[in-house]
Amino acid sequence: MQRIQTAEFMLGAASLKQLPRQGLPEIALAGRSNVGKSSMLNRITGRRKLARISRTPGKTRELNLYKIDEKMIVVDLPGYGFAKVPDKVRLKWGELVEGYLNSREELRAVVQLVDSRHAPTADDVQMHEWIRHYKVPALIAVTKVDKIARGKRAAALRTVRELLEPTEGTPVVFFSAETGEGANELLGWMREAAGLK
Ligand code: GTP
Ligand code: MG
Repeated sequence: MQRIQTAEFMLGAASLKQLPRQGLPEIALAGRSNVGKSSMLNRITGRRKLARISRTPGKTRELNLYKIDEKMIVVDLPGYGFAKVPDKVRLKWGELVEGYLNSREELRAVVQLVDSRHAPTADDVQMHEWIRHYKVPALIAVTKVDKIARGKRAAALRTVRELLEPTEGTPVVFFSAETGEGANELLGWMREAAGLK
């Protein structure tokens, strides 16, 4: 596996209008707040401090763009599912994320992260419905697998498949930002989805 050579933060976009028009293929990371999106990005780029790991879940309300090897852009979508946000904020989040999935021409694929320790939530299901509805190729990453016993993996996988009902071409892979499990497979899939190999 060819390692990533360069990774740089480009910008945080609070609206779709602010997104760049360079035509580079984009791969988005979607998932609940605290599920490990930023940690995933740091792991696959090998840069511990590239994306901020948040202590306060749900702080990021922007699309954070990272340019990888000058060839593709990873878009860290704002996390969902955090409690106690005003309806107005939730609405704005939905508009931004659904608008992005629906209309962004550069979008090639979405990596949806779900926590291996819990069954997917209603928000996870909603997110996957959007992905299916807008026909965006997807990979489901079952994260933080370092935190569950080996014997619980099969059941976790079954629950994810039952609740999200991914389409046939959608891989479901175990991932850990802690151990690096699944990172190579994920990066390979992302590059392929971006048309880089
Ligand atoms: P938001 O930016 O709020 O949407 O959260 P996020 O999805 O980017 O999550 P983040 O990467 O900030 O991780 C949240 C917490 O989970 C941090 O304390 C991480 O250290 C921890 N974490 C993330 N991935 C893993 C993992 O694979 N294993 C373990 N054990 N902890 C993880
Ligand atoms: Mg984050």
